[in-house]
Amino acid sequence: MEPFRQHLFVCTQAKPEGVTSCPGNGSLRILQALERELAAHGLEREVQVTTSGCLGLCDDGPVMIVYPEGVWYRKVSEQDVPEIVSSHLQERRIVARLAWRDAPAMKAEATDHHERYRAMLKAKDEAGVLPDDINEMIRAFMPSRAVLTALELNIFTAVGRGTSAENVAREIHADPRATEMLLNALVSLNLLEKRDATFFKTLRSARFLSEDSLDNARPALMHIAHLWNRWSTLTDCVRAGTSSAGGRSEEDGVAAFIAAMDHNARERTAGVVNTIGKNGIRHMLDLGGGSSAYSIALARAMPELKSEILDLGEVIPLTQEYVRKAGLGERISTRVGDMLHDPLGENYDLILVSAICHMFSAEENRALFQRIYKALAHHGRVVVQDFILEPSKTAPRQAALFSLNMLVGTKAGASYSEPEFANWLNAAGFSDVRRVHLPGPSGLMIGTRI
Ligand SMILES: C[S@@+](CC[C@H](N)C(=O)[O-])C[C@H]1O[C@@H](n2cnc3c(N)ncnc32)[C@H](O)[C@@H]1O
Ligand code: FES
Repeated sequence: MEPFRQHLFVCTQAKPEGVTSCPGNGSLRILQALERELAAHGLEREVQVTTSGCLGLCDDGPVMIVYPEGVWYRKVSEQDVPEIVSSHLQERRIVARLAWRDAPAMKAEATDHHERYRAMLKAKDEAGVLPDDINEMIRAFMPSRAVLTALELNIFTAVGRGTSAENVAREIHADPRATEMLLNALVSLNLLEKRDATFFKTLRSARFLSEDSLDNARPALMHIAHLWNRWSTLTDCVRAGTSSAGGRSEEDGVAAFIAAMDHNARERTAGVVNTIGKNGIRHMLDLGGGSSAYSIALARAMPELKSEILDLGEVIPLTQEYVRKAGLGERISTRVGDMLHDPLGENYDLILVSAICHMFSAEENRALFQRIYKALAHHGRVVVQDFILEPSKTAPRQAALFSLNMLVGTKAGASYSEPEFANWLNAAGFSDVRRVHLPGPSGLMIGTRI
């Protein structure tokens, strides 16, 4: 039973470069055009669009199927989408010039494609060729490095409204030949476009990677550029069992680090505020509060709330600037201190420990939770946000990889598992210890002091 009036399947099967595919012929643009047209006709809730894998008719792509009619459209272009929506989806008149009705020919082409594909896989296997996914994983640093270099050189800002490689090179004080090579590579990564010899930003690089945009993520992404240097030491760190850099260094850039934390917090504050709720919290401590993103979100949700942020001396001036910009200087105070050794205070209704535990060893976390317990009022809660590993510690992948990020960047930090967090909280005396799943890679652990 089809729950929607109509259901469209659009092939978006990615294939290696040089192999004909629907996305290579524009099926992703068709998806965007469909979204626009369905909204314009008020059909978003009537017509479901689903992406599909290869339908076996790649030479005739982009291919789209409309059910329940079972009409296969081929060689669809972005420009055809308004007609398909108004004629077929709205008025139920099939667009004859695009519909492929020769079922035997379609079946023959799809079957032939399938057989050729299986033969290709078999030949690769017999030749002992490295599988594509492993190959891609090993070379994944290349696009990453190209984009990080572009960010370091502020290429997307230098491209402006469109210019030549020579002008970009002059603007960033770099070699023209090498700059052009980098720009060409960025075009191949869909972060720039090239028309004749002029380079232009794409909509996304203009919005997210260029300094003249409100959503510019470059300051936060510079932290990832700094991480690159640390990750280059991973082999030595695995041998030694700890970071060879010995923690955060000057060139890591405290401001970039805090900007990155603030950027990460953007998509997480709502989930944290919803879980914590909006009642009964008047006095909270935000341990290692960084950019104060969570204190700001919680203060906005609870007019009675006063938050105190404890962080290191090098960070507190940045914290104060974020608080000032939010206009919450009266309700969010700051304090320089080391949460592992300095007094935490007392009688808090809530202590937030967001993105903190992964910096410390298991022993340090165990001791920290005991001190947090004592700093809470009766019925006060500790809320921990962090990557939380499954008991096997092998998933989620982002948390398992983040553990390596802590290996290369801290003395004894790591990602920890739910049983480890629960164990520290229970040992400190917390009751009602529980985990809350949030969308995205991080989760919450909560405990209450009875
Ligand atoms: C990963 S950031 C998390 C920031 C913020 N809680 C968030 O979730 O966005 C870690 C923060 O802890 C602070 N920090 C690290 N070690 C600390 C310590 N021993 N005492 C106090 N703050 C510390 C760092 O300066 C930084 O602001
Ligand atoms: S890639 Fe779309 S049909 Fe094969």
